[in-house]
Amino acid sequence: MRASSPVAYDSRHGVHNVFLYEDVKTVLSDFARFSSQRGRGQGSQNPDNALADSIISTDPPRHRQLRALVERAFTPRQVEALAPRISELTHELLDGFSRDVDFVRDFAEPLPVIVIAEILGIPVRDRRDFKRWSDAVVSGRHDGMREMATYFSKLIARRRDEGQDGEDLVSALLRAEVDGAHLTSNELLGFCILLLVAGNETTTNLLTNAVQVLSDHPGVRDELVSNPDLWPSTVEEVLRLRSPVQSMFRVSTESVELSGVTIPANAWVIAWIGSANHDERVFEMPDVFEPRRSPNRHLAFGHGVHFCLGAPLARLEATIALRAVYERFPHLRAREDAELKYIDSTIVHGVKELPVH
Ligand code: HEM
Repeated sequence: MRASSPVAYDSRHGVHNVFLYEDVKTVLSDFARFSSQRGRGQGSQNPDNALADSIISTDPPRHRQLRALVERAFTPRQVEALAPRISELTHELLDGFSRDVDFVRDFAEPLPVIVIAEILGIPVRDRRDFKRWSDAVVSGRHDGMREMATYFSKLIARRRDEGQDGEDLVSALLRAEVDGAHLTSNELLGFCILLLVAGNETTTNLLTNAVQVLSDHPGVRDELVSNPDLWPSTVEEVLRLRSPVQSMFRVSTESVELSGVTIPANAWVIAWIGSANHDERVFEMPDVFEPRRSPNRHLAFGHGVHFCLGAPLARLEATIALRAVYERFPHLRAREDAELKYIDSTIVHGVKELPVH
């Protein structure tokens, strides 16, 4: 598609698909011409649509205000401080590995959920509901979204009553202030839900995709065991080669020309991150796994004002977790006889189960 139809209109779904690296970057970052807000309807008072009020669904200037507020509470330094706890949780999960391990079920799914639940200060007993809720939200089931919205509304109200001096993220978000402005309860609710939705399945797939790639490259896996300094660039290369988020959409605000094709105003546009990260105009031998690739300017976390807020956390979690997995199980690999079932989605890329041995 990149060579023959870099911008392709799909008349059945009424969307324009954008495949080239430079065009994808433009669609993701040029918020004046490609809106994240249009077409989403605002969610206030509508618990089924709480995400419509969150930063991922707003354009500047509103986005800038919201992002500044949440950045106050969710800083890279605070994320860095989570390293010892992430390591502890990783080892607890690895202690439970037995003969029949499904890497998704037994490791890659629970780790990000527990980490986010701890960041938000969710009691342990409530955590088992999380996976169910985030699955429901991803698959568009309103019952799960409503249940989750009710849960978080109560949690936010409780934190407000408690005086907001807690160390958890909800209390920090209640305290956060920029130019005298605070987040409204609905904005805070949307942000909590967004963290669960945007942070769980993506990180799960990054971890699982890494194990799949390393199963195909045992030489690199062995090198990583003896040279753990190679982990950060390996994680970046997995993000590029098998991007957990394959696509993001926008709505054009005016008629725009990209790669010689005119996209009309008010059109749905899909930016194919997965394709951009394999664009041969930017990446040499793009289909080859090269853990030392440098520079590696992949778009797996997006680009511009909406650049992933959780990127430092995802990078930290993946580096700590994968390093520990292979330190404890240096020969771990996907079972060759396993039948792989991919998640049924054009947005997220990963398998549903990954038996390993
Ligand atoms: C935004 C990918 C992990 C929170 C994004 C975007 C991408 C992305 C592509 C841009 C969306 C757009 O342009 O419309 C990923 C990947 C992850 C990951 C691949 C893991 C490997 C996380 C985690 C969190 C998180 C762990 C939080 C705990 C967010 C938030 C936004 C976002 C809040 C919206 C930022 C904004 O609109 O300003 N992510 N993400 N993500 N991500 Fe992530």
